[in-house]
Order: sequence, then structure tokens, then C-alpha cells
Amino acid sequence: MPFEIFDFDFVVVGSGLAGLNAAVKASEYGRVAVVTKGKLNESSSFNAQGGIAVAIGEKDNPKNHIKDTLMAGRGLCDPEAVKMLVVQGREDVNALIREGLTFDNRDGKLLFSLEGGHSTNRVIHLNGANTGKYITLYFAERVNNNPRIKIFENTFATGLLKQNGKVIGLKALNLLDEQNIAFYSPAVILASGGYSRIYERSTNPDTSTGDGVWLAAEAGTEIRDIEFIQFHPTAFYDGTKFTFLISEAVRGEGGLLLNSNLERFMPRYDEMNELAPRDIVAKAILSEMKKTRKDFVYLDLRHLNAKLFKEKFSNIANFLNTASIDFTKDLIPVAPAAHYTMGGIKTDLDGATNIPGLFACGECASTGVHGANRLASNSLLECLVFSERAVEKAKNLIGSKIEKCEKDLSPVFISSTMHDAYETLKIKVAELLTKSANILRKGENLKEALKEVKELKVGTTLDEYYSIKARSLKKLASMILKAAELREESCGAHQRDDFKQTRAEFEGHFTFKENEIYFERENEQESRLLN
Ligand code: SIN
Repeated sequence: MPFEIFDFDFVVVGSGLAGLNAAVKASEYGRVAVVTKGKLNESSSFNAQGGIAVAIGEKDNPKNHIKDTLMAGRGLCDPEAVKMLVVQGREDVNALIREGLTFDNRDGKLLFSLEGGHSTNRVIHLNGANTGKYITLYFAERVNNNPRIKIFENTFATGLLKQNGKVIGLKALNLLDEQNIAFYSPAVILASGGYSRIYERSTNPDTSTGDGVWLAAEAGTEIRDIEFIQFHPTAFYDGTKFTFLISEAVRGEGGLLLNSNLERFMPRYDEMNELAPRDIVAKAILSEMKKTRKDFVYLDLRHLNAKLFKEKFSNIANFLNTASIDFTKDLIPVAPAAHYTMGGIKTDLDGATNIPGLFACGECASTGVHGANRLASNSLLECLVFSERAVEKAKNLIGSKIEKCEKDLSPVFISSTMHDAYETLKIKVAELLTKSANILRKGENLKEALKEVKELKVGTTLDEYYSIKARSLKKLASMILKAAELREESCGAHQRDDFKQTRAEFEGHFTFKENEIYFERENEQESRLLN
């Protein structure tokens, strides 16, 4: 079947909040394609419970939000990016409110929740812990009703089209009818999400497999901080790989953590107790799990006002009900699970990558706002701010000359016989990452896991869908393991058994480019080439 060919002013890959906002904003300037491998409403943004952290409360101010974000990031945030996030984020959220998006309020006054690492109540919500769902539905409706936006669902991006060092479009495959599609466009905006789902236990939907990060890496884009993976402290645990996120906002309402001996332990670890930043809580939980030789701790909600809890956290209350847990009487078993990937495609403050024509925003991007540990509920804000900035920059490319070269268009096909091999590889990669590049890490384990990943067979069929996915997984896992091994310190979301302290010489970023890894430090001209 020959390629179907389209021309657009912008191609957006991904349909979480960053992708949808990028599409809406870009449609003000030109014609937009939204390419998404699942359905429009399938994303981590859709699942987000916490809300949007934004310094617009009467008792709050941007300085404090910046301070809390930098503190959570453990010295590895880009302060300029953080300032941009907080300051432009206020404008963006206020604009949404003016447009008519009604965040939870009492008599017109916004309700602000408290989450880990925030010095004040700062998180606004839509319909309690359903913020992600309602904000993505709000944007999806605007995308659906916009004649300048064309949506391509079930369409998997298979490669970036490049010409003279610039990105000029995207190749993709419709997973239902196996039609290959070429999208020519002077601006491709990747908003394809993170890669937490490549771990065994994750709070993310199955789609969070980092394909966009891989696509960018294959095209020679810089990939930064890929070893920084945030584990959410309180994912429901039932002894299997199943998870369900119990929002941090539940601890903001007074939820307590008990070890399996029913002792409250957080006061022993941090003065902010259950509301310490996420890295501290996750590590404390692991330490208690080890001490008590159990795979979980408990979240105790028995003392909370049940009626208010059900109102505010209807989705969590419904879930507990289906799991036959009566939260007014029973304790809830929880354990950390991969939740958010701080690193990804390196961008500047305008979402631009090192390759002209290629932009990234949302979780797939490394904008510099999260450092080694993201502050709770900063991610939806990041999606809003940096997708808009990317569009503002990308719009300058409209009208750029593109020379189509159809001989570059090699079609991708799906071979169902490759499916099982891919699934086996996926399980193996998840097991290796979970064992070695988890919260607790050790150099020799990382090295061993990397060796095993490198030995995994991914098939030689270049243009086959499952083989592409297998190569993507192998590459991502290798990059995570390599950077994690080289980072011989404990910092943010992870704890090294062999290097228990933070070390000044690692105050910088591991960055991959074209199969090489560099270490970059702030204000250092020369970065070190490591292999
Ligand atoms: C949560 O609700 O606990 C998750 C919020 C976030 O990850 O920012």
C-alpha cells in the first residue's frame, strides 16, 4: 500500500494536556495534525488526580512556589525554567478561569489543596481528584470541534523525516488498517508522554512507553536526565503488578502512613511528616518495608470525615469500594510505583530541541523544571506553559520550504508473529529496570542489568512495528541504566546503596546525543564526553 501523504503547518504527537493545548494554540496560526497512538482521551494527563499547582491564592506568591519547586528538584532544576513555569503558569490558569473553566470553589473562592513539598495550600482541582479527566476533556472538545485540527487516532509515529539537518515531518502507521502515512510539516511538536510504564508497577496508562523520547533520540536529539524517575509513594498494592493511584492530596487531607507493625513512621524521617516531598516519603516507605520485611505499608484514612472524603475523592472511594476496602475501618496497603519521568527530550525555554523543526513539551520533554524530583502537581502546569511556548516559537517556521523526498519513505508493516517476542522482551526489560533502576540502586546491579539489556535480541526486521517497539524499549532501558550507573550519588528520587550522599561533582546532567553520553554542568563550556 503506498504512503498516504499530508501537509500541515504543525504536527503534534500525543494527546495529553500538552498535546491538546499545543494543538488548540497552533490552530490559531495554521493547520494542525494531532497524531496519537491510542484514543484522544488516553493519557497520563487524563489519569492525573492531584490537580494544578499554581501560586494564585491570597496567601501565596510566585516566590514561594519557585522556592518549593527548586527545593524538591534537589539542586538540579533550571531556575529560569522554574520561574517561567510559575509566572507564566499563573497567567495561563487565570486565562482558563476567565474562559469559563470552573475549578472547585466555595462561593466563588477557589479551593486550594495541600500536597507533598508545598509550603502552602496551592493545588487547584476540577471535580475533586478528577482534574486530569476534566481538563483533558475540556481541551479534547475544543480540538474535536476545531476545523483546523485533524485528529489521527490509533496512529503510531514510526520516524521523524529529516532533510539537511532539519525535521520536516513525521512517518506514522495506522495501527488499525496498517496504512503508512507521511506528515510533512515545518514543525513537529512531540508531546508523547513519559516512560514510567516500562517498569513493572506504574501508575501510568499502558501508553506511557516513551516512544516519543526514542523517536527523538533516533533522530539525534539530546536526551537529558533520563535516569531520574519519580516513584509515587502511595500506589495501591494487592500483591500483584496491578496499581491504582491514591492521590497525595489524600495525605494533604490528613491520611497517615503506618508500617505493617501499625506504627506511624514519617515523623521519624522528616518534619513535614506525610507531606514531605515525594522522594523523601517514597524512600521512607522503602526503608520501613525493608525493616518490617513486607512489600507494602498502610495508608490510614479511618479518622477522616467519610462524607467529605467521598465527595472530594469520589474516584478513589469508588475504587476502594470495588476492592472491598472500607476505608472507615480498613487500612489500605500501598507501595511506591513508577509515576513520572523527570528527564526526556532536552529543550530550551521555548520547547525547541537541538534539531531545527523539532519541539517537545509535557512529560516527554526535559525543560529543566523538575530537576531530580518533581514537585507534586507541577506537571499539568508544565504542560500548559511549555506547549504554548513551543507553539509560539514553532509558528515562525510556517511557510518554510520543504523538499519532499518520497524515496525516504520506507513503509512499516505489522507482523503478528513478532508480537509474542516483543511481549517477552517487555516483561524482561520491566523486570530488569524494576530490580536495578528503582528507588534503591547499586552500581554493580545497574552494570549487570545494562549488560543483560544489551544482550536482548530485538529482531533484525527494521521496518516491522513490534521490532521498532522492541528497539525503542531496549534503547530507553539502556540509556536509563547507563546514566543511573554513572550517577554515583544519591539524589532526588533515587538512593544509591554504594554512594549514599549527594556529591557536588554530580551537580549536572547526563545527556545522550547520537549514542554518546555527556556530562554537562551549569556554566561549564566544555561538557565531558563519557563514551
Ligand atoms: C497525586 O495525585 O498524588 C499525583 C499528583 C502528581 O503526580 O503531581
